[in-house]
Amino acid sequence: MAHTEEKIEWQNPVDAIQYHFTFPENPERRPGDAQLFFYVFKDFMPRNRQDLLVQQLEGAGVQPDDLLAHINEFYPNGRGLKEEDTASMAKGVGSQAYEILMQEVTRRGAKAIYAVTATGRKRMEEFLKRKGFNEIGQERGLFYKIL
Ligand SMILES: CC(C)(COP(=O)(O)OP(=O)(O)OC[C@H]1O[C@@H](n2cnc3c(N)ncnc32)[C@H](O)[C@@H]1OP(=O)(O)O)[C@@H](O)C(=O)NCCC(=O)NCCS
Repeated sequence: MAHTEEKIEWQNPVDAIQYHFTFPENPERRPGDAQLFFYVFKDFMPRNRQDLLVQQLEGAGVQPDDLLAHINEFYPNGRGLKEEDTASMAKGVGSQAYEILMQEVTRRGAKAIYAVTATGRKRMEEFLKRKGFNEIGQERGLFYKIL
């Protein structure tokens, strides 16, 4: 697997990185993509005052000046896949992509990371749990991990 990453413009105060994943060793395989956001926690909090996520992060000791990472999009196996389209999944690509994102998260010293899964994305939910994320809102698919 090969990847490229680029900084993209996003609404302030978000610092956003777009990832592209390609598979030179397997040209049949469609490209994948992901997006990683970073916020300073105090810039994120006022917009999400009521949010369970903010409460959990504060409770876990995340400080106003700490950096918070957000997996905004995660489609390493390509877009448009349904839950049952498993042919390209469970081959380790999701985990490789996750590690690539986490290198940047670690490099920047983020104190926590979160993701919100789309409805019915059971595979993504299970994947995040295996990566050590805590689930805080079943209905909204809210997951976070303290780093
Ligand atoms: C969620 C998703 C991204 C996971 O990606 P993936 O490529 O299947 O992830 P992996 O293959 O790394 O891991 C899945 C499991 O497959 C198995 N697996 C991994 N490598 C394997 C291999 N080489 N051979 C056999 N099984 C393997 C393991 O059980 C692994 O679990 P682990 O995390 O405990 O190692 C994938 O299901 C997907 O593309 N879903 C559609 C897109 C989507 O829903 N995105 C989120 C929107 S909110």
